[in-house]
Amino acid sequence: MPRESTRSVHEAEPFDAESGSIITPIYQTATFAFTKAEDARKAVTGESGKFVYTRWDNPTTVRLERKLASFEGTEDAAFFSSGMAAISTSVLSFLKAGDHAVAISDLYGGTFQLMSSILPRFGVKTTLVETTSPVAMKRALRPNTKLVYVESPTNPTLKLVDIAKAAKIAHSVGAALLVDSTFASPINQKPVKLGADVVLHSATKYLNGHADVIAGAVAGDRETIDRIKHLRRDLGGTLDPHAAWLVLRGMKTMALRVRAQNENAMALAEFLSGHRKVRVVHYPGLREHPQHGLASRQMKGFGGMMSFELKGTIEDARRLTEKLKVVMLAASLGGVESLVSQPSTMTHTQLTKEERARTGISETLVRFSVGIEDKEDLVEDFRQALGPR
Ligand SMILES: Cc1ncc(COP(=O)(O)O)c(C=O)c1O
Repeated sequence: MPRESTRSVHEAEPFDAESGSIITPIYQTATFAFTKAEDARKAVTGESGKFVYTRWDNPTTVRLERKLASFEGTEDAAFFSSGMAAISTSVLSFLKAGDHAVAISDLYGGTFQLMSSILPRFGVKTTLVETTSPVAMKRALRPNTKLVYVESPTNPTLKLVDIAKAAKIAHSVGAALLVDSTFASPINQKPVKLGADVVLHSATKYLNGHADVIAGAVAGDRETIDRIKHLRRDLGGTLDPHAAWLVLRGMKTMALRVRAQNENAMALAEFLSGHRKVRVVHYPGLREHPQHGLASRQMKGFGGMMSFELKGTIEDARRLTEKLKVVMLAASLGGVESLVSQPSTMTHTQLTKEERARTGISETLVRFSVGIEDKEDLVEDFRQALGPR
């Protein structure tokens, strides 16, 4: 099989037979026509595999789904209009009233709401467990547990879940393991190869990579993805073909971008971890990260995401985010541009102060999504904003 940069460019994108276009066309259409009623019937029942309606499936999006499946080593994938649409639709496809689900407590805000307040409204009981403890995960299982949901690395404190262990734990009661691998990207981590049943991404981040699209994705075996696609048809969180085309374009440079981000992040983590104004840096690539050993085993690269706690006050953290010149102050992550955010005042305001404290989100925590700029310029930017080491 060709290597990852080659597949980033070429996988699932043969040149267009009709026109010779080397770029996948954008099939910007809501619906598909037939000359015979019988052909329409066969398309609707799925007998012919022909396209019917873009909320169901679209040729541009299908190419994108094949490309992601190739990176995750899965039979198929499905794309959505946002990461949260991918997550909510996938989670719902495994559950019914009376079931139980287990999830880690360090969840992305939207997923936290889904697990802690939305699912219980529909008769699904959920248990949130300490993120890094397989023992707690095992203890939370019940005979009716249908799903175990984890993120690794977590947002924003970069904790890891041992995916192989979590898969064994989930499977011991016949539950499925779903892994949000957004922070790692498919270049650095392949959860399904480690034993997970399903991998999820906010494709808004590393898959697209250019901070100009909102999209989500899920990959897994054909039967699971068919079931999720069926629910996507009914719930309607399908990705628009033009957005699918933008993600296809973004994915051509995914391997290149993520490798540059891994390298930049390592340099910045080393710079920040030795700085007198920084209390701690959370980056799995650093030897002092408490799960560095696990990161080395289950990740191929340590990623472009880190967070660090400043010594000082919430105001000092705010001032730093405003003083940076190359690095911008914005939510989101995984794009070519470096971004910082302050989780306690921006991305994690849905949690109470106590919930934030419990998951390690202090008031001076700064999250840093490292871009592809020259690392010397990024180090220089932090030096001018923080002062010399
Ligand atoms: C880890 C993680 N999962 C899911 C999401 C949700 O993705 P989206 O914003 O594309 O809906 C995000 C968004 O920041 C995220 O960081």
